[in-house]
Amino acid sequence: MRIDIITCLPSLLVSPFAHSILKRAQDKKIVEVIVHDLRDYATDKHKKIDDYAFGGEAGMVLMIEPIALLINQLKKERIYDEIIYMTPDGVQMNQNIVNQLSLLKNIIILCGHYKGVDQRVRDIFITKEISIGDYVLSGGELAAAVLTDAIIRLIPNVLSDETSALTDTFQDDLLAPPVYTRPANFEGYQVPDVLLSGDHNKISEWRENISMQRTKEKRPDLWEKIIKE
Ligand code: ADE
Repeated sequence: MRIDIITCLPSLLVSPFAHSILKRAQDKKIVEVIVHDLRDYATDKHKKIDDYAFGGEAGMVLMIEPIALLINQLKKERIYDEIIYMTPDGVQMNQNIVNQLSLLKNIIILCGHYKGVDQRVRDIFITKEISIGDYVLSGGELAAAVLTDAIIRLIPNVLSDETSALTDTFQDDLLAPPVYTRPANFEGYQVPDVLLSGDHNKISEWRENISMQRTKEKRPDLWEKIIKE
């Protein structure tokens, strides 16, 4: 999979992809993440990429020309399955959306900044608008990092034990069960006996029950959805 990220603050996107699972996925050539600095595509001599909003709205708006230049250039090189704009007024990201995106070959993620992008960018180029939650960040970069992380870890062979993505919280709409490691007894706080029993059927049953119990208690909204299905 190839993920092209368009930003006016590329340095914000260095560290999130330079460690652990995401770094290994790139080293193994399972995924390619290319961060493009929008300023490199500015079409005037002052390298201008934003301007005042027409109509007197406060705040700067990312201009269409640099974005159009870059996206058209990328589209000449390969076919993109989705061109995503990170924005608080997009559809709210969830595991289902991430699962679907992880199956694609090439995507572009555009990060907004300041007041956002010229609406014509959204009208002409964008195929999906995604929010990571009902709050406003200073720009789309951190949101793009969240989305990209969630996608990459689902691509086959990225996680060493593939089943660990399948047992994630939300993968079946249930919250994941708790996990424990050594020591079995920490200052009197015991690991549940069943996990030490070696009885795999009993352990599976315990996990399923506790997942349902946790979901009911912590996320009644999800639980209602499961009951209705
Ligand atoms: N840009 C600013 N806030 C955002 C959010 N909540 N989700 C996605 N992109 C954003």
